[in-house]
Amino acid sequence: MMQSNNHPQTSTVPALAASSCLSLFNLSAGQIAQVLSLAHSMKAAPHNYRHCLQGKSIALLFEKPSLRTRVSFDVGIHQLGGHAVYLDAKQVGPGSRETVTDIANNLACWTHAIVARVFDHSTLVQLDKAKVPVVNALCDQHHPCQTLADLLTLQELFGDDLSPLKIAYVGDGNNVCQSLMVGAAALNIPLQVFTPAQMAPKQSFIQQLNSAYPQHRIVIRDDIANAAELDVIYTDTWISMGEDPAASASKKQQLAAFQVNADLLKQTGAHHVMHCLPAHRDEEISSSVLDDQLDLVLRQAENRMHAQKALLALILNEDL
Ligand code: CP
Ligand code: NVA
Repeated sequence: MMQSNNHPQTSTVPALAASSCLSLFNLSAGQIAQVLSLAHSMKAAPHNYRHCLQGKSIALLFEKPSLRTRVSFDVGIHQLGGHAVYLDAKQVGPGSRETVTDIANNLACWTHAIVARVFDHSTLVQLDKAKVPVVNALCDQHHPCQTLADLLTLQELFGDDLSPLKIAYVGDGNNVCQSLMVGAAALNIPLQVFTPAQMAPKQSFIQQLNSAYPQHRIVIRDDIANAAELDVIYTDTWISMGEDPAASASKKQQLAAFQVNADLLKQTGAHHVMHCLPAHRDEEISSSVLDDQLDLVLRQAENRMHAQKALLALILNEDL
C-alpha cells in the first residue's frame, strides 16, 4: 500500500523558518511539505535521526487529558535524543498559581521548547511570549499535529500528490476539522466539510483561511444525505474536551444524521475512514465501521509520533 517517494534518506535536517506552531497558519504550504517529507524519512530510518535533539529538553504542559499526544511526544523526543518533562497543568496552575507568561518565562530558563495542550488558544499566544518555541498539542480551535499526522497517513496511502483525493470531513466543525481544512488548503486537497450549519467553523476562521490560501475554496455543506463519490471520510467526536456538558444531548441529536456508518459508506462509495481518536463508538462512528477501519486509524495514531518528531527537529535543530 505504501507508495514510493523521493524523500531524503539522510539525517540532514534543514531549516524551518518558523519558530512556533500555534496552528498550521504558522507554516507555509512549503514548510508543511518539508515537515511531511522529513517525517517520511524519519519513519523509514529512525536511527539516522537519533541525535537531532541531543542535549535538548522540552516541556509538555497539558491542561486536558491525552493518550496519543502525550505518549507520542514523549517517545518521539526520546527517539531524537532529547528529554521530555511532562507537566500537569493542575499542578503548575496557569492563571491561578501564577500567570501563563510567568510560567513560560520560567520554562524558558531550563527547556528549549514548550509543547502545550490548552483549553483556550489565547493561552498558547501568552506562552509564545517566552523566548522558546511553542507547539500546539491541541486547543479549542486547532490540532495542527493531528493534521500533520493525517496528511502523512494520506500520503502513505495515496502518494505525495493528494490533489485528486475525494475526501470529506463529517461531523462537528471543531478543532480537528479546522486544522484539517488548513492542511487541505496547503496541499491543494479538495476537502468537503459536512456539518450542521450552526456547527460550521466561524466566519473569522474562514476569512483567515481564505486570506492564507486565496486560490483554494473548501466547500462546507449541511446536506449529508447528498454526500457522494468519496474516497475518504474523516470524523471526530461530537463533544470536544472543554465543551459545556449541558449542551451535549441537544448537540448529539442535531448530529445524529452525520454518523459515519455502513450506510454512509455505501452512499458515498468511500472505502477509507479516518478518526483522530478517542472515538465514541455508536455516536460519531458506528462500532463496526471503526473496527473495520482500525488499521488506518491506528496508522494515524502511530504517525502522530513521526510527524511531531519532524516538526520538532525542524524547529529546534540548530545545524541548519
Ligand atoms: N488524537 C489525540 O490527540 O488523542 P489524545 O487526546 O489521546 O492525545
Ligand atoms: N475534538 C477533540 C479532539 C480530541 C483529540 C477534542 O478537542 O476533544
